[in-house]
Amino acid sequence: MPTTELVSIITVDGPSGSGKGTICRRLAQQMGWHLLDSGALYRLTALAAHHHGISTEDEESIKVVAAHLDVQFLTDHTNDIKIVLEGEEVTDAIRAEKIGTDASVVASMPGVRQALLQRQRDFAVKPGLIADGRDMGTVVFPEARLKVYLDASAEERATRRYKQLISKGVSASLEDILADIKSRDERDMNRTVSPLKPAPEAVILDTTQMTIEEVLEVVLDEAKHKGLR
Ligand code: DC
Repeated sequence: MPTTELVSIITVDGPSGSGKGTICRRLAQQMGWHLLDSGALYRLTALAAHHHGISTEDEESIKVVAAHLDVQFLTDHTNDIKIVLEGEEVTDAIRAEKIGTDASVVASMPGVRQALLQRQRDFAVKPGLIADGRDMGTVVFPEARLKVYLDASAEERATRRYKQLISKGVSASLEDILADIKSRDERDMNRTVSPLKPAPEAVILDTTQMTIEEVLEVVLDEAKHKGLR
C-alpha cells in the first residue's frame, strides 16, 4: 500500500487563475495541514534549466534537471513559504510570466512528469496534505479522500491576474494575459500525459461568480462531510 494512503489528502486541481493557490493556502492554514504547490516544481524546473543555459526544447537535459532539482521549501514564522533553488531564493522569480509559460512547456514532457512524481508524493505527511495542481486527483494522489476541481471563465481568470499584477505595480495588458491563459489552457488540457481534467469523483466548482470565502466554505463543508475535520 503506498504510504500516501495513510495520510489524509485533499486535492485541488484546475486551470491557471481559478483561485486554487489562494484557496489551497487558506485550506492548509485552517486545517493545519501541509501544502504542496506542484506548479512551483514545474516552474523551478523551467528556471533551473534557464540558469543552466538549457533550452526548453532539449527534453533529455530538462528531464535530468527535474530529477536533480536542488530545492528547499522553507516556512518562516509568518507561515509564508520561501523557495530556495541551488542556494538562491527564487520565491518571486518563479512567478514571472515567462517562467509560467516555460513551465507549461516542460510540464508537457512525460520524462519531466515522471521525474517529479515521487517528489510530489513525499509531501504527503501527517496530519494531512492540501495538494494544488493540474493532475493531483487524477495521477499523483488518486487515493485522495476529497478531490476538488476549480474552474472559471478564461475572461474572469485573465481579469483576476491583471488586477493582481496592477496591484503589485507591474504594468500589464489584459488582452495579452487572456491570450496567454488561453494558450496555456490549450497546452495543459491537450497534452498526452496527465492532461488537466477533473477526476471522475471530483467536486467541480465554477468560481466565476464566487468569492474566495464562498469557495472556501463549500470546500470546508465537503471536508466535514467526508469526516476530514
Ligand atoms: O499552477 P502554476 O501556474 O504555477 O503551474 C505552472 C505550469 O505547470 C502550468 O502551466 C501547468 C504546469 N503544471 C502541471 O502540468 N501539473 C501540475 N500538477 C501543476 C502545474
